[in-house]
Amino acid sequence: MEILKTTDLCKTYVINKRQNNVLRNVNLSINEGEMIGVMGPSGSGKTTLLYTISGMDGATAGKIDFFGKDLTKLGANEMSDLRLQKMGFIFQQMYMMKNLTIYDNIVLPAYQANKSSDRNRINERARKLMKKLGISDVADNEITEVSGGQLQRACIARSMINEPKIIFADEPTGALNRQNSTEVMEELNKLNAEGVTMMIVTHDAKVASRCEKIYYIEDGNIRDEYHLGKFSADADYQREKELNNWLMKLGW
Ligand SMILES: Nc1ncnc2c1ncn2[C@@H]1O[C@H](COP(=O)(O)OP(=O)(O)OP(=O)(O)O)[C@@H](O)[C@H]1O
Ligand SMILES: [Mg+2]
Repeated sequence: MEILKTTDLCKTYVINKRQNNVLRNVNLSINEGEMIGVMGPSGSGKTTLLYTISGMDGATAGKIDFFGKDLTKLGANEMSDLRLQKMGFIFQQMYMMKNLTIYDNIVLPAYQANKSSDRNRINERARKLMKKLGISDVADNEITEVSGGQLQRACIARSMINEPKIIFADEPTGALNRQNSTEVMEELNKLNAEGVTMMIVTHDAKVASRCEKIYYIEDGNIRDEYHLGKFSADADYQREKELNNWLMKLGW
């Protein structure tokens, strides 16, 4: 089932009266359960695409259908409610709260989304997620008292706390070494195998090769796409090779 579709999506930034057409008529569609990678040169519009299709930033023109609603028509409150309930975010400037523990950061979006509801249920869900992601033992640490990989896994737990329909991730492994990066991607692949839809921006072909469909963005538009199919660990070397061949042809 198609859950998100953009139609001629445009985003223009204006700085000092100069227009910068960052997204130019982007048409893409995301099916439920898909794991999508987004690659492309620096400045090509990848982050802007994530911000715009998730309604964090307004579109200049075009449509974004998400579960039958046009996000470009929603008011700010409706949009932020929808974001909180149906979308999860893993962004590189991680927006974790400085003076809260890992645990409190993870449950925060759930408390925000369910103002009056059952905190026991939220707490239980947070504990399960932390266990699954292997960070239970750092629950009470402050965010400055954990490793980069642990912090990123906490971000994943937080993005999952409200059981989102889709997770948007911008360079989720950008600040990690190879081993932590692989661990984080293993977690994202697991979540996807359980049915969570994902869109992941990355510069790393190894990371992208774990996605099933990869879009290549250039000058604010989709130049090409490549279908690798669902990730399987035994084919990972082959997948990476195949993806690299495609990227090379695109001049990556
Ligand atoms: N808030 C903003 N205001 C004005 N211009 C912006 C803003 N955000 C991004 N831009 C411009 O939009 C273009 C695309 O930026 P974007 O961050 O989407 O690129 P990117 O593909 O994510 O690059 P990178 O790989 O370096 O992260 C760039 O020219 C950038 O300068
Ligand atoms: Mg970016």
